[in-house]
Amino acid sequence: MNDPGRAHAEFLSTLSVLYVEDDALVRAQLTRFLERRVKHLAVAENGRAGLEAFRTGHHDVVITDIKMPEMDGLQMAEQIKASSRDIPIIVITAYSDRDYLIRAIELGVNRYVTKPIDPDLLVEAIYRAVEVRFKQQEVDRANRRVRDTLEQTVMAMARAIELRDPYTDGHQKRVALLAAAIAEDMGLPPERVDGIRLGALVHDVGKIQVPTEILSKPGALRDVERNIVRLHAKAGEELLGGIDFPWPIAQMVLRHHERLDGSGYPDGLKGDELTLETKIIAVADVAEAMSSHRPYRPALGVKAAIEELRRGSGRIYDGSVVDSCIRVLESRPELIGPPSSPGS
Ligand SMILES: [Fe+2]
Ligand SMILES: [Fe+2]
Repeated sequence: MNDPGRAHAEFLSTLSVLYVEDDALVRAQLTRFLERRVKHLAVAENGRAGLEAFRTGHHDVVITDIKMPEMDGLQMAEQIKASSRDIPIIVITAYSDRDYLIRAIELGVNRYVTKPIDPDLLVEAIYRAVEVRFKQQEVDRANRRVRDTLEQTVMAMARAIELRDPYTDGHQKRVALLAAAIAEDMGLPPERVDGIRLGALVHDVGKIQVPTEILSKPGALRDVERNIVRLHAKAGEELLGGIDFPWPIAQMVLRHHERLDGSGYPDGLKGDELTLETKIIAVADVAEAMSSHRPYRPALGVKAAIEELRRGSGRIYDGSVVDSCIRVLESRPELIGPPSSPGS
């Protein structure tokens, strides 16, 4: 791959190209040349036909002559750029087309090649025009890999806490499913939904600091024990605070037991002091916890959870989050059910 010519040729062989030219002779020559070098070639004989071909197919790059009957290359380029700003367009031009060239630059045409066409220069132009886009795609892929790794690490943390605490096995995962479904129902963008899912997935990670005897104790907890359990919110924040997530995960974890009226913990925050993320995870957590078995009581079921949310709606829990949660649970109760059996 050190030979740039070879690298360009290999790159070219992966592309789908749309070529628009009205001159039959030039078109035949260049079609023969391109056909052997690109993965897929679509050919059109004027701007209108080119636009039609562009709209009905997938193309990585458009190569077009300028002066053509019906619709010229620049009118076509203008329409293509209006719908797909990123698609690279290369114009083929004669020196006499200088005015056209200025317009081409204004339209955002990426490259130009002068007539008579030097095939090597055309290949170079295609490579240069497309490489920016492909490099961006590579960066996007790398970012996705980093994010996947981050999610896998977070899931490993979630599993670690649930291994210690078999009674809440699967709790965080179900809360994550429900919280994400609520966020989607509320129309939040996918990026924000992802953050909420991840925050919910580790919201109880701080329980790693709570002795197992307390976590799995049947019957009611004594005050001192309850206070120890409550430390898990702050402990979770401390565990996650050093990780540079693209979302405020540590804050979601810290505040998932805060309540709208200030009756929650650890800081007794109220209303607007709580982010939507926190309010969603709080509601999903309560709904899941009530629906499932706990060491000190059997599962109460989805219906009881919905009743509890209705009672606290607008007072303890955010009203619109509760509305969404109920909508989600009524249409998809399986998200947090069926109620788990002891130890499941
Ligand atoms: Fe919790
Ligand atoms: Fe929880």
